[in-house]
Amino acid sequence: MKIALLSDCHGNIAALEVAMNIVRKIRVDKVYFLGDMVGYYPNPNECLDIAKSHECIMGNHEYACLHREYASLFNPAAKNAIEWTLNELTADNIEYIKNLPDKLRNEEFGFLMIHGALTRPFEYIRDKHTAWANFKLFKEYIMFGGHTHIPAIWTQGESGEYDIDMVRVQDDFTFFIDSKKRYIINVGSVGQPRDGNPDGCFVIFETGDKSVSFIRFEYPVEITSERAYKAGMDRFLCERIFMGM
Ligand SMILES: [Fe+2]
Repeated sequence: MKIALLSDCHGNIAALEVAMNIVRKIRVDKVYFLGDMVGYYPNPNECLDIAKSHECIMGNHEYACLHREYASLFNPAAKNAIEWTLNELTADNIEYIKNLPDKLRNEEFGFLMIHGALTRPFEYIRDKHTAWANFKLFKEYIMFGGHTHIPAIWTQGESGEYDIDMVRVQDDFTFFIDSKKRYIINVGSVGQPRDGNPDGCFVIFETGDKSVSFIRFEYPVEITSERAYKAGMDRFLCERIFMGM
């Protein structure tokens, strides 16, 4: 079975459409969205409409739409984008994001999915200590997440102790799950990559041979940038997607 895991689309429908075309072409059986369908770019409703036909987790940008005090902690560009998004979201989509879960578990294949971290809902897993603290909070052999917008593989060695490794993934890359190890896999970002590569990123998990493939894809960045600019979004948001930052 092929399972697609996509995160951090952030209202960038031009990127999401390209990602979904790839998903269809490779005949994926199941699609999960790991949160942050909205925020930053100007097509949040279109992104949520796609998520609705699949399963989706609440990201911190959906949470910010529902909790203004949390949005007030965002940087000005992100905060303004949340205000803009709130004016745009349909009543249906506001209802939809209110009901998103903070995690999902695939019972058939026994893996877990979150947006940010288990330690604190929207903590960033960026260092060994935080990865270790998170490994202690789940039993499954893989936990998929997003939130940092940086694709990465965290591995816990077979001792089950503080034996943690991390590799970043910048291009297309496939590896096979070692059944003696455990993993936290960051699937990167569809709509706003921040690893220096402007191409969108998502992951396909093939449950048969236990392979995990990071897929990088080009999309028309200029379309999203221009739409965001015309919508009056912060110029930095319009520029950063060209650089993958
Ligand atoms: Fe995000």
